[in-house]
Amino acid sequence: MDSFELNKIMGAILGTCLFVLSLSIVSGGIFASHPPKKAGYEIAALEEKGGQKQAAAEPQVPLENLLNEASAEKGASVARQCVACHEFAKGGANKVGPGLYNVVNSDIGTHSGFAYSNAMKSKKGKWTFEELDKFLANPSKSVPGTSMTFLGVRRATDRAALIVYLSKQADNPAPLPKPVAATPPAEKKEEPAKQ
Ligand code: HEC
Repeated sequence: MDSFELNKIMGAILGTCLFVLSLSIVSGGIFASHPPKKAGYEIAALEEKGGQKQAAAEPQVPLENLLNEASAEKGASVARQCVACHEFAKGGANKVGPGLYNVVNSDIGTHSGFAYSNAMKSKKGKWTFEELDKFLANPSKSVPGTSMTFLGVRRATDRAALIVYLSKQADNPAPLPKPVAATPPAEKKEEPAKQ
């Protein structure tokens, strides 16, 4: 009797196993369309990459050209975002931020009487057009730890106008850098050299 009952139990277990196995085979047939889903995710990833490329490609117009196309009047209106913290006029007082008269091509972090952050004090170099463009695009990324709590001017054309305006607030306005040719000038130079 005992061994007979054991057989029944074993039979039941075996039967269940067979049933599960057949289920998985059948469902495997039904849901065999899984792989395309993966391909779908890959496309999404590619699209993301494409988006990043587009974002990176946006400032392809060289800064030199943007500056030459920009108007100081437009820059003056962009500069309204700064006046809560900065004065632009000659002899303008230091407010939350330092006075910005003569700032273009000045040594970084040296406006007299202003208490700069350590981050700004330790940044070497001059406020060239290029350096200003980088800083004003994203101050805390360009100078990590800066006390200038300002998100930045997003659009490259707005920044260019602003920097042209800044350059005019000076005793001797710095000349704008020359615009660069749209096609890589290296090729043009090489051709006459070969002939
Ligand atoms: C919320 C206040 C605030 C606003 C708004 C602001 N700034 Fe500043 N700015 C500062 C402070 C504070 C510093 C000093 C930063 C440091 O020491 O890290 C500074 C520093 C600077 C410097 C470096 C000056 C130097 O002497 O080295 C420039 C250039 C500058 N700001 C330009 C601008 C322009 C242009 C705008 C408007 C688009 C602007 N800032 C908006 C507060 C501000």
